[in-house]
Amino acid sequence: MQKMVWLGCLALIGGMMTLTSTSVIANEPVPSISDIMVELNNSKKGIHPKFGKLLKGKSEIKWETLTDDAKLYADLAAALGKNKPEKGDEASWKKLCSEYAADAKALSEAVAKKDLEGLKKAHAKLSKSCGPCHDAHQP
Ligand code: HEC
Repeated sequence: MQKMVWLGCLALIGGMMTLTSTSVIANEPVPSISDIMVELNNSKKGIHPKFGKLLKGKSEIKWETLTDDAKLYADLAAALGKNKPEKGDEASWKKLCSEYAADAKALSEAVAKKDLEGLKKAHAKLSKSCGPCHDAHQP
């Protein structure tokens, strides 16, 4: 019985944590470029390196566990272009952001379809997106 109560508590805390992490996108204003980059690309906790490790690893992919991260990837990448970078011209920013959002959407769709080749392809494209955008727009 005691154990059940504990499990209940854990489930509740888990639920609250999910809520706070998704509220990043639910809330106005739009998350900043920096927030989006940290959430997606932080080398330790970011979603992009997390997928990278998984794709390099040998263990079988548990698709169900990737759905939330994949959706957040697509949503945050889509929000990036609503920001205005401190550096670089607007046309270039719009173009790079729309490519980034399209690749993240492809990643999310590949996860939904359990399409390993599609996931690898989208992830590889996203891995190559960093340099060009940072060169043009990172202050
Ligand atoms: C479409 C443009 C774009 C793409 C693509 C992009 N970035 Fe960024 N990134 C930026 C900009 C602009 C900044 C600077 C944000 C600032 O300082 O306000 C930044 C900042 C960062 C930061 C510093 C965040 C912080 O404030 O602590 C990291 C880390 C980062 N990017 C990693 C990556 C990685 C890794 C990739 C590729 C997998 C990537 N970015 C792809 C535009 C982009």
